[in-house]
Amino acid sequence: MNDTVLGHAQTASLTSDDLSAIAWAATRAPSVHNTQPWALRARPDGLEVHEDLTRALPVVDRFGRGRLISCGAATYSATVAVAHLGWAPQTALLPDPVNPRHLANVTARAPQPPTADDERLYAAIAHRRTHRRVFMPAPPRRDLTEALVEAVRGHGAWLHVVVPARRERLADLLWRAARAQADDEAFRAEIGGWLRVAGEGTDGVPIGSLGTAPYPIDGLVTGTLPAGEGTPEWVAEELGRATVAVLFTRGDDPADWLRAGMALQHLLLLATADGLVASFADQPVQQTRMRPELAATLGEPGHAQAIIRLGEPLVTVPPTPRRPLDEVFLR
Ligand SMILES: Cc1cc2nc3c(=O)[nH]c(=O)nc-3n(C[C@H](O)[C@H](O)[C@H](O)COP(=O)(O)O)c2cc1C
Repeated sequence: MNDTVLGHAQTASLTSDDLSAIAWAATRAPSVHNTQPWALRARPDGLEVHEDLTRALPVVDRFGRGRLISCGAATYSATVAVAHLGWAPQTALLPDPVNPRHLANVTARAPQPPTADDERLYAAIAHRRTHRRVFMPAPPRRDLTEALVEAVRGHGAWLHVVVPARRERLADLLWRAARAQADDEAFRAEIGGWLRVAGEGTDGVPIGSLGTAPYPIDGLVTGTLPAGEGTPEWVAEELGRATVAVLFTRGDDPADWLRAGMALQHLLLLATADGLVASFADQPVQQTRMRPELAATLGEPGHAQAIIRLGEPLVTVPPTPRRPLDEVFLR
């Protein structure tokens, strides 16, 4: 099938194969608990990205911040696919003032051959995974870290790479946030509702994708934490196996969350292309009241949106499922 969906003067006329390829790329994006909270609409020259409120997490993600970050990540992947197909991508965030659920348009503009960097990012889409396993002890890669910092800045966000001297304070925040989540029955129940037996379903987190790294390092609360005061020393030690980076934005509204998602996915694809893996240690940003404390701990004036562990993998992890594209497209 290679039929032209619609032509339009001075804009791309994408085929239905092109649109499927862009939608495929968008839907490989990471999303909070693999809820895949997006709905797509095909346009003659690109894709509309909408949020799907039926896939919300009212306890874990009360304000929809994680949902919009996820949709921002999908939006970024769509732009990478447009570039791969030979067009200059253009993104408009929140393009419809009367419909806040319409989050983005990704449009193919003038023809433009993909660069080697575009192709590297595109190739990484299929390989990126959330890696909740122990990382190999390896020194941080300064060259790559600089590239990640630069990429994030291009989306109007910034990356704080945590220096060893601040690791213990971050470990303490992480432990306290993890304890709050582990002690919160409603929180645990909502996450539990998105866990899946391997091989079952088209969304949620398969049991096989859970961590071998101990909680909270693996990122996902699945049980309770040992009782006792204070943060165990191993939390900071485990963090030390990774490069830990915190993504910040200046504001904290839906447009900032979408930009954070685009920056996050750019960072993750760049890291994947370089053979690194990443996972989330997001508990302190999921606990709304701890976000200012996290920013203060790192001496940052902005709003923390994600805490990412980056490192060298010891093993590979399987892909998580995705809904079929015909379920994702709005009619
Ligand atoms: C905004 C956001 C927040 C996330 N938070 C967590 C988290 O707290 N813990 C975790 O283990 N994974 C987290 N994830 C990763 C998702 O669970 C993961 O993307 C999803 O299960 C799909 O798997 P994949 O990334 O391997 O494709 C988060 C992802 C996004 C986009």
